Amino acid sequence: MARPTDMFVWPARLLHWLMAAMILAMLFIGVGMVASVSERHDWLVRVHKPLGIAILLLAVLRLAVRLRHPPPPLPADLPLLQRWAAFASHWLLYALMLALPLVGWAMLSAGGYPVMLSHSLRLPAILPANGVAFAVLRHLHAWLAVLLFVTFLAHLGAALYHGLVRRDGVLGSMVGWRPRR
Ligand code: HEM
Repeated sequence: MARPTDMFVWPARLLHWLMAAMILAMLFIGVGMVASVSERHDWLVRVHKPLGIAILLLAVLRLAVRLRHPPPPLPADLPLLQRWAAFASHWLLYALMLALPLVGWAMLSAGGYPVMLSHSLRLPAILPANGVAFAVLRHLHAWLAVLLFVTFLAHLGAALYHGLVRRDGVLGSMVGWRPRR
């Protein structure tokens, strides 16, 4: 068995894989939504909003878990530039997981649209109605989604590099495997 410090704690691992699937689904739902003009558009919007708010709540929980349980240390021989890239990209991912749903919520509020999570559950507006703010936030939401997708791809590349090239146990610490060394 790996020592406890070799791995992320199980709530961090569970939240990581659950949120990875949710966020990836959201990126595709978002793009599908703006690209479709059929009745599928309404269905996708109905899924997009509650799933986005669920991501926001889970991101807050995940941040609390992260602050309470620091991650296992990176391998001692990892070059400084890669350490810095890991640090910066991880905090950028946290920032985007919080910012993107909040901007989506604020955008609908500024547009004067109700933010319905179900037929009867309506979230309060977090901004007063304002056409200019709506237009700015609509663009911001799309650009933050692009940034999230690019950061996700870089993160995936780094994970595969650790798992297949360096084989240093970093990928295993999130999957739950026993580290190689
Ligand atoms: C992690 C969470 C989220 C992700 C990854 C995400 C992703 C996206 C993406 C990729 C688009 C398409 C952007 C474009 O190409 O123009 C989009 C559009 C949109 N999102 Fe989100 N979103 C998230 C959260 C939210 C939330 C919480 C809300 C509202 C409560 C929301 C409301 C919308 C709306 C209204 C649109 C435009 C729909 C349309 O014009 O047909 N999003 N989102």
